[in-house]
Amino acid sequence: MRVFPSLLVCLLGVFANTPLASAACTTRPYSAWMADSVIERGQAIVPPGTEASSSIYLQIGFFQTAILRLSEYYRTPESVCSPSDWQEYLRASTDSVVPFLLNATQDTQIPLDRFSTGKGLLHQYEEFHNTTLKVTLDTLRESINLQPQNVFGGYWYFVYPQWSYLDGMYSVVPFLSYYTTALAAENSSAVANDIIKQLDLLWTHCRQNSTGLLVHGYDASKMAVWANPVTGGSPYVWSRSLGWYLMALLDTLELETPNFPLKLQTYLQQRLVQLSDAVIQAADAKTGCWWQVMTLPGRPGNYIESSGSAMFTYALYKAARLGYLPSRLAAESIDTASKCYRHIVDTFVVQNSNGTLDYNGTVAVCSLNSTASYEYYTSQPLLYNSVHGTASFILASLEHEMVSQSRS
Ligand SMILES: *[C@@H]1O[C@H](CO)[C@@H](O)[C@H](O)[C@H]1NC(C)=O
Ligand SMILES: *[C@@H]1O[C@H](CO)[C@@H](O)[C@H](O)[C@H]1NC(C)=O
Ligand SMILES: *[C@@H]1O[C@H](CO)[C@@H](O)[C@H](O)[C@H]1NC(C)=O
Ligand SMILES: *[C@@H]1O[C@H](CO)[C@@H](O)[C@H](O)[C@H]1NC(C)=O
Ligand SMILES: *[C@@H]1O[C@H](CO)[C@@H](O)[C@H](O)[C@H]1NC(C)=O
Ligand SMILES: *[C@@H]1O[C@H](CO)[C@@H](O)[C@H](O)[C@H]1NC(C)=O
Ligand SMILES: *[C@@H]1O[C@H](CO)[C@@H](O)[C@H](O)[C@H]1NC(C)=O
Repeated sequence: MRVFPSLLVCLLGVFANTPLASAACTTRPYSAWMADSVIERGQAIVPPGTEASSSIYLQIGFFQTAILRLSEYYRTPESVCSPSDWQEYLRASTDSVVPFLLNATQDTQIPLDRFSTGKGLLHQYEEFHNTTLKVTLDTLRESINLQPQNVFGGYWYFVYPQWSYLDGMYSVVPFLSYYTTALAAENSSAVANDIIKQLDLLWTHCRQNSTGLLVHGYDASKMAVWANPVTGGSPYVWSRSLGWYLMALLDTLELETPNFPLKLQTYLQQRLVQLSDAVIQAADAKTGCWWQVMTLPGRPGNYIESSGSAMFTYALYKAARLGYLPSRLAAESIDTASKCYRHIVDTFVVQNSNGTLDYNGTVAVCSLNSTASYEYYTSQPLLYNSVHGTASFILASLEHEMVSQSRS
């Protein structure tokens, strides 16, 4: 039923001679298809009449990021035969979350993931100049100054005293960059220093000398049951949390903010190269993808995890596309990403007879408020259609489609 109106618009798109419409509209690419399926499932939005849960912010912000990238590349849903209204989704999901973010003190009780909603807020603000959206952005910015910090000045991820995680960097670091560029350009120098400091504290406390990979987080007080006595680091490299960190480096570097001192870009690129190299070394030889506990491939209980794998696929494709990697590494990046992408499509993507697309194999959540043991990481439930998985898959697919379309 849905097919007819969108086909009609696609035909109109051909006549209007929009660059991508004629080529792309014969089939709907996986990126758009998965986005449509998330929207059909009513995910990544605060359900009307309910309170926002502390886990919804990242789902909304991450999926909004995916929708914004789809819109940048394909311009309109019609051009890729998508029946959804991407802009309407952005409006509705932004409206659903705004009421919960308007008090900076209360914002600090939400994990750092709250900043992922900033991209959608800024996009809506630049489009519609609605002052409520500006107030929300400013309130979020103010909440950074109120964010509790550990003894080194690292932001706590959430309510756990002294604990900093890789995860939060994906949300807060790009936010600091695009907020400052758009709304507080005079502050660029100070913010560049803040960004380097936050990323570097995690780098120094979490990096494993043996693999070059970063463990999930650290406790600056070293009191947690899992804390390394020297560094405070947690014991294992969890693929999804490292995925957030790698994407934070890349997405911030991509913002290419001329007001920021060059040392920020230099720092980000250097780390991106080092970490991409280590991530490629850790890829599973058979599938090209990554294990839930990244450094223990094949150990009983361990498995290839579908959100972290899609995040690395996205990041490796994109880092190569944007020219951030030296040529040998860029070639390896693309090879690894394409191999894993094929595995993801074959293994985790499920096509339903009614035309929706599902995504399997995404671990629910791993918290450091736990034993943080190997058994813990490998016994958390797997979710079907988790937004952490589907949004990662949309981003990875988009990069894959860019490579394929530039070759064809
Ligand atoms: C401004 O944005 C808020 C939150 O998204 C929304 O509730 C409100 O209706 C918008 N106002 C106007 C005039 O568009
Ligand atoms: C913001 O929240 C804090 C903590 O709950 C509260 O003390 C304060 O009154 C609130 N501010 C406003 C303007 O509502
Ligand atoms: C500028 O940066 C400083 C230091 O990080 C921060 O305290 C302040 O809130 C920022 N101001 C704005 C408008 O972003
Ligand atoms: C890695 O090596 C450096 C320098 O030798 C040392 O300071 C750091 O504690 C080591 N990290 C870990 C996790 O052992
Ligand atoms: C499509 O099929 C899937 C799998 O059976 C189901 O979960 C979903 O609710 C269906 N969606 C619609 C819109 O019927
Ligand atoms: C999802 O993955 C689980 C674990 O590998 C598997 O048992 C299940 O059959 C899969 N579901 C679908 C619909 O493919
Ligand atoms: C941390 O874990 C403990 C024990 O499982 C639990 O009671 C507590 O609610 C958790 N804290 C948070 C903030 O989730």
